[in-house]
Amino acid sequence: MEPTSPKTLAASGNTAHEAAHEAAHEAAQVFPPLPVTPVHVAIVMDGNGRWAAQRGLPRLEGHRAGAQCVREVAEAAIDFGVELLTLYAFSTENWTRPEEEVGGLMTLLEETIAREQDAIVENRIRVRSIGRRDAVPSTLQAAIDHLQEATQDNDRLTINFAFNYGGRGEIVDAVREIVAAGVPAAQITEKTIAQHLYTRGLPDPDLVIRTAGEMRLSNFLLWQAAYAEYYAAQVYWPDFGRKELYEALSNYSRRERKFGGLSPGGDPAAGDSPALGGDPAPGESLDAGRNGAAKR
Ligand code: FPP
Repeated sequence: MEPTSPKTLAASGNTAHEAAHEAAHEAAQVFPPLPVTPVHVAIVMDGNGRWAAQRGLPRLEGHRAGAQCVREVAEAAIDFGVELLTLYAFSTENWTRPEEEVGGLMTLLEETIAREQDAIVENRIRVRSIGRRDAVPSTLQAAIDHLQEATQDNDRLTINFAFNYGGRGEIVDAVREIVAAGVPAAQITEKTIAQHLYTRGLPDPDLVIRTAGEMRLSNFLLWQAAYAEYYAAQVYWPDFGRKELYEALSNYSRRERKFGGLSPGGDPAAGDSPALGGDPAPGESLDAGRNGAAKR
């Protein structure tokens, strides 16, 4: 697959990482507004381990670098008009990793919350968490709960933090709730299930991004992503920043979403394939006719 970014997996080095992040900050003003912005972007933050291995560092250093770049992505998401960001931070399957890595991740998450809490509040970001509470260390759970409470009235961006999360487990939990509530089988609809998911009340993701060039859902938002657009970013998560988010959003803005229907007024035989098109350089004009309204 062609890399979508000059910052390819193989080419990224420590200096390249730092320089690219700096350049991304400087270039913040030059990203032109996109004709369509996804309301909800969900990200599988993949490649921390490989990022570290490339530098001869322990895997945990990759996770540490990954935690650092969440802030830049959140700030860029606000600037680009994204309202909801779901980040896959720890899956129900991640418990099978070596104890040292799992323990290190828990500590890192707690440290990250402690470090970023003030900035999150100041930036009026709301943090919610989705996932199972069992098995999560009590101090980390308390930190997550506190952050949720402290930010519940914020409205600039919602970060939905998927922690100890698995899509199948979420559906099982929803079914258990529905059965426990005594809802008659004939009355169960798709809406009933959606109302019992961890994401109840939130819109489905419009765009799912996975970094490290991987193309798997890995049990992420299985129900909610039924009609999401999918984008594989060709950089490891610690190298994903403002520019890479813009590229993903730009690519999304050229997709035509049909939700199982037909293109409104389009002739498929005459049409090109927007998803296969290359990304325009910042400043290049985009076809504003695609993808319907700016917000859905
Ligand atoms: C996948 O990379 C990443 C994880 C399992 C953990 C993600 C956690 C973070 C980015 C840090 C904390 C985040 C927040 C929001 C504070 P991998 O380990 O599977 O990488 P690999 O495939 O290269 O081994």
